[in-house]
Amino acid sequence: MGRLVVVSNRTPGKGPAAGGLAVALRQTLAEREGFWFGWSGKLVDIPEPHAQITDIDGLTVAQIDLTRDDHQAYYGGYSNSILWPSFHLRLDLATIEAHWYEGYRRVNTQFARALLPLLKPDDVIWVHDYHLIPLATELRNLGARNRIGFYLHIPFPTPDALYAIPHHQELMRDLSRYDLVGMQANRDVAAFTEFADHQTPSSLDGARVHSVDFSRTEVVAFPIGSDPDAFARLAVSPAATKMVRRVERTLADQRLILGVDRLDYSKGLPQRVEAYEKLLANDSRFRRQIHMLQVAPPSRDAIKEYQETSDTLDAVCGRVMGRFAEPDWQPLTYVKRAYGQPSLAGLYRLASVGLVTPLRDGMNLVAHEFIGAQDPTDPGVLILSRFAGAAEIFPDALLVNPFDTDETAEALRMALDMPLDERIARWTTLMASAQKHNVTDWAKHFLDHLAPAKVDHSSTR
Ligand code: G6P
Repeated sequence: MGRLVVVSNRTPGKGPAAGGLAVALRQTLAEREGFWFGWSGKLVDIPEPHAQITDIDGLTVAQIDLTRDDHQAYYGGYSNSILWPSFHLRLDLATIEAHWYEGYRRVNTQFARALLPLLKPDDVIWVHDYHLIPLATELRNLGARNRIGFYLHIPFPTPDALYAIPHHQELMRDLSRYDLVGMQANRDVAAFTEFADHQTPSSLDGARVHSVDFSRTEVVAFPIGSDPDAFARLAVSPAATKMVRRVERTLADQRLILGVDRLDYSKGLPQRVEAYEKLLANDSRFRRQIHMLQVAPPSRDAIKEYQETSDTLDAVCGRVMGRFAEPDWQPLTYVKRAYGQPSLAGLYRLASVGLVTPLRDGMNLVAHEFIGAQDPTDPGVLILSRFAGAAEIFPDALLVNPFDTDETAEALRMALDMPLDERIARWTTLMASAQKHNVTDWAKHFLDHLAPAKVDHSSTR
């Protein structure tokens, strides 16, 4: 078996804060003597063409620097102001600047040029996420014949949203250059297939005839997961318990409703707080009995739409405070800060309700982690958006339409009133599904699927 080479925009950092993906792939990378390739996080005037290779906590990482302009066009521009909003069906929040696409391609070319000299012929390359869709094309143009797989961590757009993306035809052609394309959910594969099925040589875009040959690319749903058993252990660890004790003291006997999300417009944060507001307005028996904690670490805050989401959330939280707080009771706490996994695991376990209500989400791992961290004898209730990929594998959560704040308010009421036996029954099924979809098996399934050499690229691509 060849080495495994993982490529993503960000590479794993030092220390214990590593995400589930890094934890899951670290072991496979060690076994297969592979390495992780990505951006160093540094912006420089003139980048070195060669990658710098370092050891980060036993993991081999090869990194390149980018220029400020390229990074802005590739990351802040095309990736996060065009692809991210469009793939999340928020065309109203997309900003289009024509030159960003050139920067996006330039960075992908730079990745390919720096990666190619590090490759051996039988290496298997696994590319992650929307920043790097053109990477297979760029590598193949330089002569790479390796197996190359791609995994999209975010939702795939419906065809009409895809049509709104400048250069979407090139992107689709780029996807067709992978041997395997993995997506989070069946809904994403269906959206992709709907687009691909309409690609006939006769489909016209103005005067241009275009078609993409998807016949050799497999597109398969591989729903990502977490390590719920590790989360269960973490939730009762001393570090988690420290956080739990602190919060328990301030909560007194109030029950906790918890949200944990990057501060991103796709997460539906203002709608969530509005739903909570409706619960307090409709059902006065809950006042003084409950407390909502929203953890929302800032994200991509150089982008205007993210700043506006942050401002909107400030306003909604302020309104709820002004409307319901009393000198000796506050309905909610809102922290724009990141916490380590042990603290989060403790908070998940303490919560009576986990509110995971994105407007659209690839998977949503908070849902998995919340389930993993629950006390089996007294589990909390998961309220989950129908528009998260997680809804496909967690039908026993209370599924809501996050745009409908009345429905979410009613789900909150149901969750808070749910008897213990129903909570246990629902959680038992959820935990079984979280275990079945654990991140280690996810990586294994994807790589097993990618492994067989089904296609010879030498003449066809
Ligand atoms: C999502 C994306 C990831 C990204 C992460 C954090 O989960 O799918 O690719 O790394 O958000 O966003 P950031 O822009 O800070 O890397």
